[in-house]
Amino acid sequence: MLSTLVLPLVALSAVSASPFTAHSNAARSVFAHSNTARSIAARSTAPVAAAWFAGWHATDGFPLSSISWEKYNTLYYSFAETTQSVTSLSLAGSNGDLLPQFVSEAHAHGVEAHIALGGWTGGIWFSSNVATAENRTAFVQTVTDFVTQYDLDGVQFDWEYPNHQGIGCNVINANDTANFLAFLQELRQNPIAEKLTLSAAVSLTPFVDAAGNPSADVSGFAKVLDYIALMNYDVWGSWSSNVGPNSPLNDTCAASAQQQGSAVFAVKAWTDAGMPANQIVLGVPTYGHSFSVAPSAAFASGEKELVAYPSFNASNQPLGDTWASAGAVDVCGVFEGPGGTYNFWSLIDDGFLTNEGKAAPGIYYRYDSCSQTPYVYNETSQVMISFDNAESYAAKGSYVKNAGLRGFSMWEAGGDYNNMLLDSIIEAAEC
Ligand SMILES: *[C@@H]1O[C@H](CO)[C@@H](O)[C@H](O)[C@H]1NC(C)=O
Ligand SMILES: *[C@@H]1O[C@H](CO)[C@@H](O)[C@H](O)[C@H]1NC(C)=O
Ligand SMILES: *[C@@H]1O[C@H](CO)[C@@H](O)[C@H](O)[C@H]1NC(C)=O
Ligand SMILES: *[C@@H]1O[C@H](CO)[C@@H](O)[C@H](O)[C@H]1NC(C)=O
Ligand SMILES: *[C@@H]1O[C@H](CO)[C@@H](O)[C@H](O)[C@H]1NC(C)=O
Repeated sequence: MLSTLVLPLVALSAVSASPFTAHSNAARSVFAHSNTARSIAARSTAPVAAAWFAGWHATDGFPLSSISWEKYNTLYYSFAETTQSVTSLSLAGSNGDLLPQFVSEAHAHGVEAHIALGGWTGGIWFSSNVATAENRTAFVQTVTDFVTQYDLDGVQFDWEYPNHQGIGCNVINANDTANFLAFLQELRQNPIAEKLTLSAAVSLTPFVDAAGNPSADVSGFAKVLDYIALMNYDVWGSWSSNVGPNSPLNDTCAASAQQQGSAVFAVKAWTDAGMPANQIVLGVPTYGHSFSVAPSAAFASGEKELVAYPSFNASNQPLGDTWASAGAVDVCGVFEGPGGTYNFWSLIDDGFLTNEGKAAPGIYYRYDSCSQTPYVYNETSQVMISFDNAESYAAKGSYVKNAGLRGFSMWEAGGDYNNMLLDSIIEAAEC
């Protein structure tokens, strides 16, 4: 989730039958309101239909009342950020005063309410918080106190990334991954945390080891976490050499230069390291990345067909939608240029797509079948966007089902338009 980020309705009967919705009693019965302590072996394997709720958007067009609670079984409030003190977490950037209402509304709908801890800007102090036995014990107390205070059902650790720099000023230690595991093991021993749904939002390759390489064995994490959520987005963007898919489903079918990671790649990397497929939730984006592309690069010569992986003008980053940063100094004190992201709703608002989510008249469209990615292009403004639509969400949902993954989680709940994306993935993941 870079830059902090980051409709044809299905018939109600089909939605009700889906194992991915809160309508399913089988899924519901194992959820948090049951106070039965779950041993590690007996932990729930019910499907996860989830989204992140970005607290800061509650006052920017997506209030709590806009959440389609009945379509989910889990929502993550984003973010509680780490602080320099191991005894405190901060909700300062996320309208934290709304968290109690978020939890009570989730519970009223039979939905698990989790806190997402960290995020792109909020993980600066994870490393020091888990660096020593003393700090790990203190951090277990901090996290469980927070859970008790807000009556939460789960905690998601979104550390970007152990022993691998993210935003630029995170504390980093060679032992981060080992310390993280030791912390989670201690947390799981705690009587409060024992009953929680614990997860981690992760990158496409396993947490790196002390030498900086992806860990060969993450089975220890599989024992203490209920699941991981793969952040399969921001794979291509303004930092890339060419226009490419934000969230590729597959890349093993692409030319080698275009193999920059995908859901298929990430699931293989994590399962090869010992994370069972049914403990992997696929993170799916509701936004796309924009690029400035000259018509001479966008089209095949003499035709008006969009080409794959065109070059773009990095000096002319489109600004994206009203939720995208226009450029600002980040928490590390470094100026970051415009994010250039477009949420799905903004592609409709800004005229790239019709209300039905199809390319608008005068907008060029291409769908890449390897990565399962739609592209739109406005020749006049020279803006090209790689994004996700109902078709790519259906492909992702089918993959979740066929690969035996635990479910999906959408970044972010407020990015959709009339639940077009959400309904599509729920329907496909069920069949
Ligand atoms: C332990 O946590 C405290 C903050 O509460 C921090 O000052 C200290 O540096 C941490 N220890 C290590 C080894 O990082
Ligand atoms: C990592 O942990 C080992 C002991 O487990 C310790 O000797 C070493 O100093 C630690 N490295 C760092 C960078 O803290
Ligand atoms: C990914 O691509 C490979 C190679 O073309 C293909 O065998 C595999 O079925 C694809 N997987 C998915 C989920 O599309
Ligand atoms: C790229 O964009 C910059 C800024 O708008 C412009 O000055 C430059 O001419 C563009 N380069 C090309 C090759 O179009
Ligand atoms: C394409 O961009 C131009 C310039 O910003 C704008 O006037 C036009 O409406 C856009 N075309 C469509 C179909 O949205």
